[in-house]
Amino acid sequence: MDRFSILVGDITKSGAEAIVNAANTTLLGGSGVDGAIHRAAGPELLAECRTLGGCETGQARLTGGYRLPAKYVLHTPGPVWRGGGAGEAALLASCYRSCLLLAEAHGIETVDFPSISTGVYGYPMAQAAAVALKAIMDFLREHELPRRVRMVCHSPEAAEIYRQTYNMWYAEDKDGRL
Ligand code: APR
Repeated sequence: MDRFSILVGDITKSGAEAIVNAANTTLLGGSGVDGAIHRAAGPELLAECRTLGGCETGQARLTGGYRLPAKYVLHTPGPVWRGGGAGEAALLASCYRSCLLLAEAHGIETVDFPSISTGVYGYPMAQAAAVALKAIMDFLREHELPRRVRMVCHSPEAAEIYRQTYNMWYAEDKDGRL
């Protein structure tokens, strides 16, 4: 699927029309990618987030990007990893689907994701990658928009896990391997 790709980078530098923020339910900022996005976007982002009244885990909210290169930020609180028996996979899949539905509804063509819940929230990377890729690939098969989706990994190790997972499940043939 040439509409999806995996790369290593800092999502705050992304030129995608929308970047996704691995937020918390208050939407009032935090550490990790949340902290990086708020630092790069500037105070207007927090001011807009304050008007949203929070967001449930697995849901998504759209704001402006302000001083970010991205025009929009899609904020989604991922699940905290509690060992896998508390519905974490379904909630994580819902994060990806909610962001993609919101992007489609706003005619957004390109969306970059970080690896939601795999930092502070402790979701094991390989298990998160399987959930994330299935949610993204299932959505792209059913929808024309977004035109392009990328997974922006913060380290080569994370990207390798995503690439291995992708190649195991989605590479049409060895030439299609990332
Ligand atoms: N660009 C891309 N990916 C990043 C960046 C960045 N600039 N910074 C961190 N990451 C990666 C991390 O390496 C991790 O793989 O994003 C992934 C998600 O990690 P976190 O940012 O810790 O998010 P999460 O695990 O979902 O925890 C969310 O942390 O920051 C707080 O307010 C946030 O309470 C919420 C919680």
